[in-house]
Amino acid sequence: MQLEWTDGPEAFATRAAAHVAGVLAETPAATVALPTGTTPIGLYARLLALAETGEATLAHARYFNLDEYVGVPPSDPHSFADFLRRHFLDPASIEAGHIRLLRGDAPDIAAEAAAHDAAVAALGGLDLAILGLGGNGHIAFNEPGADWDAGTHVVPLTEETRKANAAYFADGFTVPSHGLTMGIGMIRAARRVLLMVSGGSKAEALAALLAGRADPVWPVTALCGHPGLAVVADAALKPSR
Ligand code: PGA
Repeated sequence: MQLEWTDGPEAFATRAAAHVAGVLAETPAATVALPTGTTPIGLYARLLALAETGEATLAHARYFNLDEYVGVPPSDPHSFADFLRRHFLDPASIEAGHIRLLRGDAPDIAAEAAAHDAAVAALGGLDLAILGLGGNGHIAFNEPGADWDAGTHVVPLTEETRKANAAYFADGFTVPSHGLTMGIGMIRAARRVLLMVSGGSKAEALAALLAGRADPVWPVTALCGHPGLAVVADAALKPSR
């Protein structure tokens, strides 16, 4: 595991973006899974800036979202699809043929999950999964006790996650009871994983990963021993001993 502690949001975003730009320099047509949430916002801004100056080439990669709310259409401003378009895909002018975003409102949600997996598999699997971390150790919507072998599938969301995600919206949006998520099996199969950890409530989950022992109570520990794992973490979360 490559672990980097950063001081402040600027350095956090800069280091994460340098990592992504490095992967894209090595593998321009990389297949990339993208996260939502507060954590990656700076990363997306920084990647756009690097693309502007020619220090990163974003146009050849293929982009997938990690997860989505079940029942929420991609056109809905609460959807993860909308978030990714707004913060990254639209300003980066990524062509539509290079993007596959989960349809949370698909009439056959199992078929939608299978189609997401098939689209990733057709490109040879994920080259890079970019992840945030939940306070309860979740990665994407894989909550404690998740199946570590799964591909994309529907999951019930914990109250903790629903509450944390409701905080993004001032309009009283009710976070759906279920999510659609790439499973841990698929994430673990990615050749590289970039785990971004910032935010006050993440110290315990990060400590579980750093302890190096796989424990289903902490989904993030499924990444223990992953040969392509890089972690960029806010130094404020450093374990005290
Ligand atoms: P956050 O969420 O980036 O908004 O803290 C991360 C996550 O729950 O995966």
